[in-house]
Amino acid sequence: MDLYEYQARDLFEKYGVPVLPGIVADTPEEVRAASEKLGGVTVVKAQVKVGGRGKAGGVKVAKTPDEAEAAAQAILGLDIKGHVVRRVMVAGGARIAREFYFSVLLDRANRSYLSLTSVEGGMEIEQLAVEKPEALARIEVDPRAGLDTAKATEIAKAAGFPDELVAKVADVFVKLYAVYTGEDATLVEVNPLVLTEEGDIIALDGKVSLDENASFRHPEHEALEDKDAADPLEAKAKASDLNYVKLDGEVGIIGNGAGLVMSTLDVVAYAGEKHKGVKPANFLDIGGGASAEVMAAGLDVILNDPQVKSVFVNVFGGITACDAVANGIVKALEILGDEANKPLVVRLDGNNVDEGRRILTEADHPLVTLALTMDEGADKAAELAAK
Ligand SMILES: Nc1ncnc2c1ncn2[C@@H]1O[C@H](COP(=O)(O)OP(=O)(O)OP(=O)(O)O)[C@@H](O)[C@H]1O
Ligand SMILES: [Mg+2]
Repeated sequence: MDLYEYQARDLFEKYGVPVLPGIVADTPEEVRAASEKLGGVTVVKAQVKVGGRGKAGGVKVAKTPDEAEAAAQAILGLDIKGHVVRRVMVAGGARIAREFYFSVLLDRANRSYLSLTSVEGGMEIEQLAVEKPEALARIEVDPRAGLDTAKATEIAKAAGFPDELVAKVADVFVKLYAVYTGEDATLVEVNPLVLTEEGDIIALDGKVSLDENASFRHPEHEALEDKDAADPLEAKAKASDLNYVKLDGEVGIIGNGAGLVMSTLDVVAYAGEKHKGVKPANFLDIGGGASAEVMAAGLDVILNDPQVKSVFVNVFGGITACDAVANGIVKALEILGDEANKPLVVRLDGNNVDEGRRILTEADHPLVTLALTMDEGADKAAELAAK
């Protein structure tokens, strides 16, 4: 889960990372009030989860509350790379002497953490990495040893910080690493980390990505979720612990195992080419269990998608045998009753497939069609969706 800048700022503050005061606001009037409260020069910053806000006109310096209000008028509603600005942060203004870059992130390929640091701030980091790779210090951080003062000093020196700044920035790196581990983040990035005219080191912008696999350790992270922006169907699926991703098509998909579901999406998209270009409506992996309750919860989510015209259930019986899955489907349709109102194509294979098919044939539900192969099922589901 990616956080907004203001949420990252709050976390930084909690861990003692030096930040400027920031107040979030949703209207120009609130921005004016925030600017009056902060006093002096402020910076009005678009809160969107996408980079390059400054260049897109989403970051404006305001010398007075009037200017802050005008900046808010310009920024609120702005479309930045497809993200419409609904909220801004009014931040204190820094007098910047130099801009630096620091990040620590999960390095999956090396099964380790990686810190990226540069004294060449101001440039986008992707661009810097390509055009001036020598200006970017890449230092591995062993998760077992962590990033202590010694390591932070090594990083600061490798990045080429002037001697008089090394201790100061190292202290900030240690605190940013505390955010990274303390919050179970996969990324903590500060761009720019600045040296002010007054000689202070301050994190002026922050990007934090949290590891959702660790959310059980952080009940407080739920409050950081962007409920308004979340798709309502995805929210519903999440509430039932389902692995669901909404897509933009007409054929609802249920399968067990991420690999099988991914292939099902491909096969349905391919079959759809012959049927008015219909496409898969979602990804939904109901996992190994495939019990009646899970099947019902999955069907419930999919049938509530108004775009869905047909559903393709593609299950390979493994540890959970096909008869259990078939019983799950029959019970799920019972549980859903009238809410089940779209045709279902079911393809079962694997462990105890004959018994599974027998159960579905016997149940003879008017909405259910059996398919023998994945291709046949995909074609039938696409055809039904195109009707
Ligand atoms: N509080 C502040 N005071 C003074 N200048 C600021 C402040 N915040 C940002 N700036 C200036 O604006 C520039 C862009 O700000 P920021 O890094 O927050 O946005 P961005 O980099 O364009 O967005 P993103 O990081 O999402 O790509 C900074 O490099 C800095 O020069
Ligand atoms: Mg930035």
